[in-house]
Amino acid sequence: MKTLLDDSAGSGARARKLSGEVLSIRGGRPLSGRVEVKGAKNLATKAMVAALLGETTSVLRDVPDISDVKVVRSLLEVHGVTVTDGEERGTLLLDPRGAVSAHMEEIDAHAGASRIPILFCGPLLHLLGQAFIPDLGGCRIGDRPIDFHLDALRSFGAVVEKLPSGIRLSAPDGLHGADIELPYPSVGATEQVLLTAVRAKGITELRNAAIEPEIMDLIAVLQKMGAIISYEPNRVILIEGVDSLRGYDHRCIFDRNEAASWACAALATDGDIYVGGAKQQEMLTFLNVFRKVGGDFDVHEDGIRFRRGGALRPVVVETDVHPGFMTDWQQPLIVALTQAQGESIVHETVYENRFGFTEALRQMGADIVVHPRGLAGGARRVPRRELEQAAVINGPTPLRGADIVVPDLRGGYSHVIAALTAEGESTVRNVGIIRRGYEKLFRKLDTLGADFDVIG
Ligand code: EPZ
Repeated sequence: MKTLLDDSAGSGARARKLSGEVLSIRGGRPLSGRVEVKGAKNLATKAMVAALLGETTSVLRDVPDISDVKVVRSLLEVHGVTVTDGEERGTLLLDPRGAVSAHMEEIDAHAGASRIPILFCGPLLHLLGQAFIPDLGGCRIGDRPIDFHLDALRSFGAVVEKLPSGIRLSAPDGLHGADIELPYPSVGATEQVLLTAVRAKGITELRNAAIEPEIMDLIAVLQKMGAIISYEPNRVILIEGVDSLRGYDHRCIFDRNEAASWACAALATDGDIYVGGAKQQEMLTFLNVFRKVGGDFDVHEDGIRFRRGGALRPVVVETDVHPGFMTDWQQPLIVALTQAQGESIVHETVYENRFGFTEALRQMGADIVVHPRGLAGGARRVPRRELEQAAVINGPTPLRGADIVVPDLRGGYSHVIAALTAEGESTVRNVGIIRRGYEKLFRKLDTLGADFDVIG
């Protein structure tokens, strides 16, 4: 008998504590059926922060019911923003008119395991002239510094003070336009600049900016608020600061990470999954790799149908910033590559420690060798930075059930796909982390015919 917990009961507890949720999964069956993908976790959370900049209520639609959204919602409420649920499911109304300073302890208590709090800096400095940001959480996939963020904020005129529990910022003379070149097209740092520059006095030029679809959707949100932002060639973004912004009404871009995850689940389990809400434009690079691996997909008006088109073939993939193959896509892809006939190589060039999840796959019988300093010689792509890791996957190897603990969000989802691919029973622990980013995970697995029970 399967007991489906209410997926919306996400916990605000810090992710480093085991969420205590345990799945028992019996693998070896194809996943087939239709799932709906809602708004992108990595846009919705940022658009919620942007509401702080408006002088009237904002409406955000297609917001996923995940714990990362709950964390940002409670952080906004701690700062006096009124957040209410709209009529339509997945709609939030965000009224910033009661915004006030919050106490450090309160902020820290609500910061959860998210990295989003760092994006409160600019809006709070504009609103209140000060901000306190607790030490950040987020997945352990590298040391994930925030130096680009702090350097950018100083360029706008903020005073940054490091405290034992986080950072305190102030802007005694307000914030002015800045001339910023990012050392690397960082998504978070680009968002930091956007959320600060729109209300700074004067013009900001941002060079070497990230241009992910979620960034472009955040620019659309800010433009709806009255911001003046132009996107120039070669990763240059110009922002003309304005004196005031109004609320927005925006429907989030779909979550291409979740869509890619279900596509890889179809590959790995030899299934057939229709992902409602998925759009081709934002997944072009992924779809090319999906087809090269041996997948088949049909693009429809309201989604994309993914299935295995025959024997899986090995590929060589490098992760990169947009429009390259996204770093968040490599974990579920690697599970499918364990079933491909031959040697695949995945070069990870964005994070310095993003193959930790492969340990559990090896436990299940996968043949994966991780090269922490990348591959020497011709096989190695010249990375944007010193950093590059590589994973060499030889297949096909039958996977067998194991007892595994989820390490992070995307790796955790891959563990679930691996357990669904493996013959026999697996126990997957610390599943709560996965629900930070995947709405209604258990219900969707149930819809697709997965054989599992929630046992803890
Ligand atoms: C965002 O993280 C996403 N998270 C990540 O998704 C995603 O993998 C990443 O962008 C890349 O696309 C959210 O949007 C909440 P970065 P972010 O700044 O902004 C280095 C998921 O599972 N860096 O582009 O933190 C950094 O260490 C998550 O949804 C600095 O060195 O990513 C990394 O190596 C995982 N200094 C690289 O840049 C800085 O100040 C890219 O990081 C900032 C970043």
